[in-house]
Amino acid sequence: MKKILITGGAGFIGSHVVRLFVNKYPEYHIYNLDALTYAGNLENIRDIENKPNYTFVKGDIKDIPFIDSLFEQEKFDAVIHLAAESHVDRSITNPNEFIETNVVGTANLLNAFRDTWKDNFDGKLFYHVSTDEVYGSLGKTGLFKETTSYDPQSPYASSKAASDHFVRAYGNTYGLPFVISNCSNNYGANQFPEKLIPLFIHNIKNNKPLPVYGDGKYTRDWLYVVDHAKAIDEIFHKGKRQDTYNIGGFNEWTNIDLILLLCDLMDGRLKRTKGDSAKLITYVKDRAGHDRRYAIDANKLNKELGWKPSVTFEEGLAKTLDWYLDNEEWLENVTSGAYQEYYKKMYGE
Ligand code: NAD
Ligand code: DAU
Repeated sequence: MKKILITGGAGFIGSHVVRLFVNKYPEYHIYNLDALTYAGNLENIRDIENKPNYTFVKGDIKDIPFIDSLFEQEKFDAVIHLAAESHVDRSITNPNEFIETNVVGTANLLNAFRDTWKDNFDGKLFYHVSTDEVYGSLGKTGLFKETTSYDPQSPYASSKAASDHFVRAYGNTYGLPFVISNCSNNYGANQFPEKLIPLFIHNIKNNKPLPVYGDGKYTRDWLYVVDHAKAIDEIFHKGKRQDTYNIGGFNEWTNIDLILLLCDLMDGRLKRTKGDSAKLITYVKDRAGHDRRYAIDANKLNKELGWKPSVTFEEGLAKTLDWYLDNEEWLENVTSGAYQEYYKKMYGE
């Protein structure tokens, strides 16, 4: 039985990847390694926790002796690495945490994987999950391609770019088999409500101000999280080794247009008068160094592996809104305690 280590599997995207692999591949044993930081929540994967091909391991990728002994004991055939500090605003407040987890943590996993297989990497794979933010910011036109030069602008983006470089360097220096994917903004169930879509759903529901950064005309390219997980599955199994794939939905929205759409959809669901939720929109101070536009060219992934998004944005967003409204308890649990302190620090009362 192939042993696959998925890191960060209690987080947003990781939980969808773990679920897909555990259910689709009973012939694999999936180990989910997660430190359960504020962003990790075992509730996200409650439905698969008793499956025979699944094991949860609580641990920190920064902890070298722990990582080394885990790899020595389990001899993982493959790693799908998602564990990271992932929120740009937090990276502005506390960059070092991002360097430690995203850069050093990734290097710790690479070392342990290299030392497990040494010179015989036959059939092994280190899959590194990364972001489109490594490419920096686009002007009004153009798309990020796999060949676009790296130009990260935030501490988060820089830490992810550095980790990508380390993965490629280990491929080049030690022959470690790897693949990297760089994905655009994800949305869907189980996303921590510090990110735009779940935060705004939560605030609309509770009649709280909707803090729009700057002029609101920043552009993001949105992809349904289940489609990201499906892309990772395709790339893991069929992607060319020592290569990179961009993942995106060809689905660009300015923040303000997306927020107006969210308000409209929420008015309908909450039986409010059309236009009521939009009254909550409040323009606030811009994010420092805010990237203007991201947009992914996902043609390589489509042409080489046949992947394309399985849902339209309208379908994905409808499923997402319904999930947050049907799972009030999940939202209430994750927005208590430390979340309240974070919120006060970021946005005031
Ligand atoms: P998330 O913040 O929701 O989850 C991160 C998970 O990693 C959490 O479960 C957390 O407990 C765990 N973790 C954090 N530090 C750890 C450590 N030191 N040791 C072990 N576990 C640790 O993040 P996400 O949005 O699901 O992103 C997952 C990955 O995908 C990240 O690498 C991110 O850079 C990348 N990515 C995210 C997006 C997006 O839109 N969210 C887009 C492209 C790429
Ligand atoms: O592009 C991929 C990246 O997308 C991932 O690598 C990151 O992990 C993920 O967090 C996301 O980064 P963004 O910074 O684009 O996502 P966020 O949801 O924080 O913000 C989306 C846009 O909305 C961005 O232009 C900032 C803006 N925004 C965000 C928040 C939280 C607001 O206007 N107000 C807010 O309160």
